[in-house]
Amino acid sequence: MAEQPDSNLPDHGTFALLRRLFGDFGYRYRVRYAIAFTLMAIAAGCTALSAYLIGEVVTRAFGDRNLAKVVELAVIAMALFATKGFAMYGQAVVMARIGNAIVAENQRHMIARLLDQGLSFFEVRHSSEFLARLNAGAVAATQVLGLVIRAVGRDLLSLIGLVAVMVYQEPLLSIAILLVAPPVIYFMRHLTKRARTVAHSQFVGSMHILETMQETLQGIRIVKAFGLEPMMQERAARNIEEIERASNKMARVANRTSPLMETLGGFAVALMMLYSGYRVILGGANPGTFFSFVTAFLLAYEPAKRLARFNIDLNAAMIGVRVLFEVVDRPATEPDDSDRPPLVLSDARITFEDVTFTYRPDEPVLSGLSFTAEPGRMSALIGPSGGGKSTVLSLILRLYEPTGGRILIDGQDITQVARGSLRRHIAYIGQDVFLFRGTIRDNILFGRPDATDDEIVAAAQAASAHDFIMSFPSGYDTQVGEHGLSLSGGQRQRIAIARGLIKNAPIILLDEATAALDSESERQVQNAIARLCEGRTTLTIAHRLHTITHADRIFVIESGTITESGRHEELLRRNNRYASFYRHQIQKHDDIPPRAAVAAAG
Ligand SMILES: Nc1ncnc2c1ncn2[C@@H]1O[C@H](COP(=O)(O)OP(=O)(O)O)[C@@H](O)[C@H]1O
Ligand SMILES: [Mg+2]
Repeated sequence: MAEQPDSNLPDHGTFALLRRLFGDFGYRYRVRYAIAFTLMAIAAGCTALSAYLIGEVVTRAFGDRNLAKVVELAVIAMALFATKGFAMYGQAVVMARIGNAIVAENQRHMIARLLDQGLSFFEVRHSSEFLARLNAGAVAATQVLGLVIRAVGRDLLSLIGLVAVMVYQEPLLSIAILLVAPPVIYFMRHLTKRARTVAHSQFVGSMHILETMQETLQGIRIVKAFGLEPMMQERAARNIEEIERASNKMARVANRTSPLMETLGGFAVALMMLYSGYRVILGGANPGTFFSFVTAFLLAYEPAKRLARFNIDLNAAMIGVRVLFEVVDRPATEPDDSDRPPLVLSDARITFEDVTFTYRPDEPVLSGLSFTAEPGRMSALIGPSGGGKSTVLSLILRLYEPTGGRILIDGQDITQVARGSLRRHIAYIGQDVFLFRGTIRDNILFGRPDATDDEIVAAAQAASAHDFIMSFPSGYDTQVGEHGLSLSGGQRQRIAIARGLIKNAPIILLDEATAALDSESERQVQNAIARLCEGRTTLTIAHRLHTITHADRIFVIESGTITESGRHEELLRRNNRYASFYRHQIQKHDDIPPRAAVAAAG
């Protein structure tokens, strides 16, 4: 998980990441890069020339006392600065555009990779981890691109130009001053490593805050009802403190460059003063040369400082890029298999042949499960909670693959056909109805995006949803929130059924679709379900047994195998597992209609 770097992924070096960030796009954006670097070079040239110009001015003014020449130089200086301004502007815009395109591209990659993952990938991770990665990744990529562009484009090129002026004016002194570079580089390397560690704990901390935030928001009812506010506050507080501490440490580490750089800078300045003063006073050297050198040195000082801490800032920002690439590079656990033959349906008969399955090694969930769901009929799965019923539906959808045995639909092993073609033929309705952000119409359309308005209304009517939808002021255009909070459980369930109906799939999978409803909504939803299932192969998991007494066949699943099967009356007569479940439920609940209860008692 996120705390530990994934061991099966290559550890990306900073340079490798940089090359990837720029290189992948280097060719595509080669013209823009060329324009940007030309503009940068122009700006850097202007900076260097202005330093050189100062020397000229001093020579003309003090030496030659030539006012006309000085005026000319002043005009040139103005032109130089204006040129530099425009070049910087153009360069910044071009590079920002490249950077934004790179960030967008990586975000698209990340979303695509996430959608390529099977369910088990998401089960071991908190969803906020992906939010953190996507977000941190984008911010960091922008930051890294900005840093590199500034470092190379502005600072490095200016530095080269200015050092050229320095060397031209005072070669010996320049070399003396450049001697401070090696200790700086050594010290920075050390700081860079620390910065990387601190940046990592900053990222982990912010991910934990997101986790707490997300859980608090999603479980806000429970938080309030159980008075968990202080606990949530406390949880977040710990992470916030963690980040604060990490950020403080980062501030210390990153800025530790300042004392060193200033001290060394002062040393260089002193050295320069002594040497130049000596040369001008005793050696009779040209003061113009001296001024030009000093100007170049002072102009070079800031970019040199920024370059010195460049690696630290880069490594701190790189952590985000790294976590983004960790997702992008992950091999798909549900790779595209659309080149396989599609599932060809004739009757839609589903057969399980000795299917075994485990989520975790050594914890068998299905052990040798065999049954057939007859075409056009309703088959029901019942049994104790945890027996493996939902798992059966997940396997039919190929959300997981069986560990052993085969699942056949019309004689075709479903692992051998294209996943998409399989899922297209199945409408799945679970207990938790998920409504996506958007209108009710949008949510029904997810069943079949090309459905017409008339078809939407027809589906909603069949799902007993049309009337309550029309009772809203905006009708089908009513917005449903993140989790459709404004709708009741029964209403959401009926929208889900309309979504299933409009898909018009020959296979229907229902997982306790009415378990969360009160008996009035359950009755309405049951009617809608009956219409949905008409003439289709239906596999339903029932929590309340009275909802499946009319099923064509009932399978009792216990500990991953089928222990009994038959029709309701037949199973009651047999007076075995089903009959005992049924009687147990009648004793426990009084929500069973009298007729069924009488039948059971008799
Ligand atoms: N995603 C999962 N990861 C690990 N174990 C799971 C997962 N889903 C279900 N299980 C386990 O598999 C067993 C069967 O679960 P399930 O098929 O949901 O049973 P049922 O629907 O009959 O209540 C249970 O022991 C459950 O804990
Ligand atoms: Mg279940």
